[in-house]
Amino acid sequence: MTITKAAIAQQESVELSVVIPTFNERENIVPLVERLRAALAGISWEVIFVDDDSGDKTVDVVRRLSLVDRRIRAIRRVHRRGLAGACLEGILSTSAPIVAVMDADLQHDETRLTAMLAMMRSSRIDLVVATRYAGEGSSGEGFNRIRQAGSQMAIGMAQRLLKVETSDPMSGFFMVKRALIDELAPRLSQQGFKILLDVIASSPKPLQIGEISYVFRPRVHGESKLDASVVFEYLGLVLAKWSGDLISPRMLLFGLVGLSGVIVHLTALRLLLLEGFAFSISQAGAMLVAVLSNYTLNNSLTYRDRRRRGLRFLTGLLLFAAFCSVGVVAGTGVSSLFYAQEPQWWLAGLAGAMIGAGWNYITSSMITWRRSG
Ligand code: GDD
Ligand code: MN
Repeated sequence: MTITKAAIAQQESVELSVVIPTFNERENIVPLVERLRAALAGISWEVIFVDDDSGDKTVDVVRRLSLVDRRIRAIRRVHRRGLAGACLEGILSTSAPIVAVMDADLQHDETRLTAMLAMMRSSRIDLVVATRYAGEGSSGEGFNRIRQAGSQMAIGMAQRLLKVETSDPMSGFFMVKRALIDELAPRLSQQGFKILLDVIASSPKPLQIGEISYVFRPRVHGESKLDASVVFEYLGLVLAKWSGDLISPRMLLFGLVGLSGVIVHLTALRLLLLEGFAFSISQAGAMLVAVLSNYTLNNSLTYRDRRRRGLRFLTGLLLFAAFCSVGVVAGTGVSSLFYAQEPQWWLAGLAGAMIGAGWNYITSSMITWRRSG
């Protein structure tokens, strides 16, 4: 079948694609689409909702709307969670030259989109950040005091460690050339909330960044998904980028969990010894407790996006414990060999620990929490 030029010309090409990650945002979809229609009148746009299989069936609401308005599209992802990954997938699914990313919860001021687009069109700008921290912008209504202080601290860290100069590198509201994301995509993390910071920090050449201020609104329906593990992921991202991607955020979390395991182990050992158990029994018990603690923490933090539940939680624990024991044997072997060559107890010990940890990390990533599907 050939498509004639005339047929193609009849369709208007889309200039702006608005990508909106959703997780349990059912109530917000209709009002948001209404607002987009009003704000983007006169622009050739589309909106792509990327939903992580929300329990409240957000995607059904989107599909209903898209039946009557072709500018509205839905992507449903299953067995996956992650704001950054959802945004990335939405961006890569469109051919529009310019993409905007914004939240579904009406906290972002959609009337600023036209000013952002004008900036993208008029100058050699790669990225426009809608900021709460410059000009008329503010986060006063949308954040409580603790969030506000935390947000400021995280921004300070990103600016200092990564030399990012934007006033709001944590913003979830920005506009960017799709070609730039196409180029950076393989380097971007799927985890966490901080896609903007990741884009800025991962670009090999300095980006031309514009800013438009806006006022962060309070959330009306539903609730925020930002929690402690999002904060952990953020710190992981800052350190990963600071180390020039030598350390991945996942590896870092795995390492931190491992360190916590040492503390758990020693505490449990001490308690068991105090209870009067023999050393070998206490040591075995402490190891079990540490493995259990590491497994649970890794399952809910390090591999949160691939979390094992129900029966799979138990089978995963067995796998993890089995691989860890092999890791102990391999680590001991390596440190003994090392010690025979170079009788420095701490060097040999460190080498053994690194080998053990490396083995555990690799088997965890590739087997216990392998990407499903
Ligand atoms: N698909 C998908 N998957 N969407 C998600 C997920 C997820 O795992 N987690 C959150 N979302 C969606 C929400 O449904 C919402 O549309 C948007 O991402 C933002 O989530 P919120 O939970 O409302 O975030 P917030 O308001 O607390 O945080 C805001 O401020 C941060 C800066 O402090 C957001 O704008 C963040 O992007 C921003 O980094
Ligand atoms: Mn929000």
